[in-house]
Amino acid sequence: MCGIVGVTGVGDALPYLLQGLQKLEYRGYDSAGVYLSDASGKDALIKEKGRVSKLAEKAIAETKGFKGTAGIAHTRWATHGNVTVENAHPQKSADNRFFLVHNGVIENYKELTDTYLQGVHFVSETDTEVAVQLVDKFSKDGMATPDAFRKMISLLDGNSAYGFLLVDHEDPETLYVAKKKSPLLVGVSDHGNAVTSDAAAMIDLTKDFIELRDGDIAIVKPKSVTIYDEAGEQVNREPFTLEIDPEDTDKGAYPYYMLKEIDEQAVVARNIAGHYYDDEGNLQGIAPEITDAIKKADRLYIVAAGTSYHAGLIGKRYFEQWAKIPTEVHIASEFAYDQPMLSDKPFFIFLSQSGETADSREVLDNVKKQGFPALTLANVMNSTLTREADFALPVLAGPEIAVASTKAYTAQVLVQAILASALGNPGFDLKAELAKVAVEIQAITDEKESFKKIAESALKNQHSAFYIGRGLDAAVALEAALKLKEISYIQTEGFAAGELKHGTISLIEDGTPVFALLTQKKTAGLLRGEVAQVAARGANTIVFASESLAKDGDAYVLPEVNELLMPLLAVIPAQLIAYYATLDRGLDVDRPRNLAKSVTVQ
Ligand code: AGP
Repeated sequence: MCGIVGVTGVGDALPYLLQGLQKLEYRGYDSAGVYLSDASGKDALIKEKGRVSKLAEKAIAETKGFKGTAGIAHTRWATHGNVTVENAHPQKSADNRFFLVHNGVIENYKELTDTYLQGVHFVSETDTEVAVQLVDKFSKDGMATPDAFRKMISLLDGNSAYGFLLVDHEDPETLYVAKKKSPLLVGVSDHGNAVTSDAAAMIDLTKDFIELRDGDIAIVKPKSVTIYDEAGEQVNREPFTLEIDPEDTDKGAYPYYMLKEIDEQAVVARNIAGHYYDDEGNLQGIAPEITDAIKKADRLYIVAAGTSYHAGLIGKRYFEQWAKIPTEVHIASEFAYDQPMLSDKPFFIFLSQSGETADSREVLDNVKKQGFPALTLANVMNSTLTREADFALPVLAGPEIAVASTKAYTAQVLVQAILASALGNPGFDLKAELAKVAVEIQAITDEKESFKKIAESALKNQHSAFYIGRGLDAAVALEAALKLKEISYIQTEGFAAGELKHGTISLIEDGTPVFALLTQKKTAGLLRGEVAQVAARGANTIVFASESLAKDGDAYVLPEVNELLMPLLAVIPAQLIAYYATLDRGLDVDRPRNLAKSVTVQ
């Protein structure tokens, strides 16, 4: 998804904007641009295809001797129009007065062009240029800039999700902001103000942010922020303070964020335990309103996308076995448009790292319209899904920058386990077991070299791979497969091993890598048989088994914790294998092609 940053009232805007774009790179993009201006009206527009580093080089060279005190910048993920410098943002009006960056899609841009912009010369193929030309037109019709900006927004198709940031060259230190479904925050400080898609991107300027709401329009000046709600009423929105350290959003000594985030999982597990248990081992941090509301339900519906959906498949087991509540897990994009028949008293749990996934937000909108209660477990608090649900709980994984989600997955599984234990007795000391989980995660991540070797030998020159398992391991197999395919581009399937004989086994050829996750005692024998079946057909079988179930020849013996918590350990080798297979192919581990960290469009 595109990324937006802007600053005003700072001594030198360019460094803030370039650092901000670098911190937004994880969102996925293919071109970038920056517009700078100062109070005297001096300005510069620089755009470039490819990486932000290329834009930075060009911008620094072209602005020698000029320090903008305000500016807007953007990373573009091409939707309307190819990847070209002309199509990169900021887009500008024909007379170089207005400059605009935009996240989202303007569904009715053709109708708007035909109705309002006959004869206007367009230089790009983007729908964004239509928006900035509209502002210019309404300005020339005599409207003041705030009114022209609002008029443009009022003409957009009702379903359009958007984030806009506009500068008027005739008032060069004022930023005009509009937000609907595409996250935008205003950073406030006494040494300049900012606008950003992600608070962490502006952490070098401030830690205090105002979360804009859908329909808000903000006018951000060097020393003031004025916000109007959807009805045009001026509103006061309290800022929140971002609780992260700047270094949390840096790679530090790591070559890639993904490896750093895999390594952080042991600490994350400890932080989660520290947050949800007091020193005496009593549960804390879960409001009784949440557990009371869930206890009134006759069925839980977990709704999520991608890796978060896979975490829900594990959480289901905890809610059913410990809380004794029937639980369904649904893919958000399916549930949104094909809602199944619901129980009489449903309760919804949304799982999301970003808290901004459009598919999940669509479901939350529908659920709220039907009057059902909802809880969001998210890594990014102050996000749409946390704000718009009735309840929210943090998964406390810390900023997750790599597109491939790792620590957010284990954090979501952990917090679901803790929540389920607040609803029913697990039958063992969960706090003590979670402490063991943290120790064992550390033990596995300390053995990276083993997984580097496995990845390089099993996956070299392979175009397909399989992860199989039974029970909880079948759910982990889905997550393991997603990790490998989304960053190494090796076609990988994860599924229930018992299904092999119903079709998939026909794909097994000589050397096909089949990873087996074997941690569930009840079905271990059956899974061993399935491993033998694929081996007999030439597969290269790589088994990761729990200590008590391991056999000679297994590729790796997993340390043992309570069987229901073994997904937290079984997933770690899969994360590392995905990482090393990708590295071995010389690909960008953190920024895989076509993918974005937060999918804020449906
Ligand atoms: C996982 O590696 C992917 N990046 C993706 O599947 C992600 O989990 C999915 O888009 C859901 O995102 P969310 O957790 O922010 O809602």
